Amino acid sequence: MIVAGQRRRTIWPAAEADAVYIIDQRGLPHRWLELRLTDIAEVHAAIRSMAVRGAPLIGATAAYGLALQCRHQATDAALQAAKAFLDNARPTAVNLAWATQRMLDALAPIALDERCAAAWAEAGAIADEDVAVNESIGEHGLALLRRLAAAKPADAPLQVLTHCNAGWLATVDWGTALAPVYKAQAAGLAVHVWVDETRPRNQGASLTAWELGQQGVPFTLIADNAGGHLMQRGQVDVVLVGADRVAANGDVCNKIGTYLKALAAHDNGVPFYVAMPLSSFDATLGDGRAEIPIEERAARELTHIAGLDDKGEMTEVQLAPAGCNALNPAFDVTPARLVGGLITERGIVAAQAAALQALVGAA
Ligand code: MRU
Repeated sequence: MIVAGQRRRTIWPAAEADAVYIIDQRGLPHRWLELRLTDIAEVHAAIRSMAVRGAPLIGATAAYGLALQCRHQATDAALQAAKAFLDNARPTAVNLAWATQRMLDALAPIALDERCAAAWAEAGAIADEDVAVNESIGEHGLALLRRLAAAKPADAPLQVLTHCNAGWLATVDWGTALAPVYKAQAAGLAVHVWVDETRPRNQGASLTAWELGQQGVPFTLIADNAGGHLMQRGQVDVVLVGADRVAANGDVCNKIGTYLKALAAHDNGVPFYVAMPLSSFDATLGDGRAEIPIEERAARELTHIAGLDDKGEMTEVQLAPAGCNALNPAFDVTPARLVGGLITERGIVAAQAAALQALVGAA
C-alpha cells in the first residue's frame, strides 16, 4: 500500500540476505518505526510482542525467521527446533505453523549447503503469494460489495463494519477483510467503514484507523459496544472481518469480540462475511469452538492503556485498580451458523464442511 507517497510492504528482506525488516506496529499511529531482525530469537520476540501481528503477517515473518536460522544451523533437527520455538510465539493463528511447515517441507529435500539460499527464496515466495492471495480476496469481496451496494440508493455509500485490523498491516500487503474495501475504492464504489476500537489492544483505533486514513478511505471510529446499536438503526450494510483460524466445520476464530458482532449481525439481518486466505484454514480441526487454542495475553493489556502524553511522548497509563484480577483471551470463535460466507482467494464459499472440503480439494 502507499504510505507517504511510497509503495510499502509490511516486511522486506535485507539486500544482503542477513536480516529482515518489519514495521514495528507498536509505534503506530504515532511513530513510524522499522525493526531489523537478525535471528530467530528476535523474530520470536517481534511476533510475541506484536511488533508484527495479523495472521498472514506472522506466518510470513516466521518463514523469514527460519531463513535466518539457516545461516546458523540448517540441519533437520535445528530446523524442527526452530519451528517449534516460532510456532509457540502465538498459538491461535494457524498461518504461523502453516508457514513454518511449508518452509520445512521445502527444505527437507535440499542439500545442507544449499538450504540458506533455498530458505530465503521460499520465504520470499510465501510473502509474494500472500500479496497475490489477498488481492484475489479483494476481487471476490468486491463482487459481494457491488451486489450489496446495488440494493441501496445510488448516492448512499456502502456501510461496512470491521473489527480489529485485517488490513494491509496484518498481511504482507492488501489485507484480507479490507482488501475488498480497497478494491471498491479503486473501482469508484462509495464505501464508508465503521471501525471498532477493538479493546484491549485497540488495533482498530490505532491501526485500522491509521491505515484507512493513509489510503483515503472514509471511516468513523466507534467503541466496541456501538456496533449492535448501529445495526439496529440500519446503519451497517455488511460486517467484514478477518480470521486467525477456520476449522473444518466452518467455525471462525478471530479477534475477541468478533462473536458478539456476529450475534448482533444475525439478530439484525446484517450480512456477516469473513475474509479467509486458505493459509488460515485448518482442516485438521473438526470443531472450531472445541478445538481452536485461544491465546491468553497479559492482564496488563487490560489494566493499562498506551498512548501519547501531552508532550507527544508515548506512554502507558493505568486504568484499573492496582493488582485487580483480569482475564484477557485474545480471540473468540464465531459458530459457522452465524457466518454468511467465507471470502477466499478461490471465491466465496459457505462456512460449511462440505463446501470447504470441495473448495480445498479443487486445488
Ligand atoms: O492479535 P492480532 O492483532 O494479531 O489479531 C489480528 C486479527 O484478529 C485479525 O483479524 C486476523 O489476524 C486476520 S488478519 C488479516
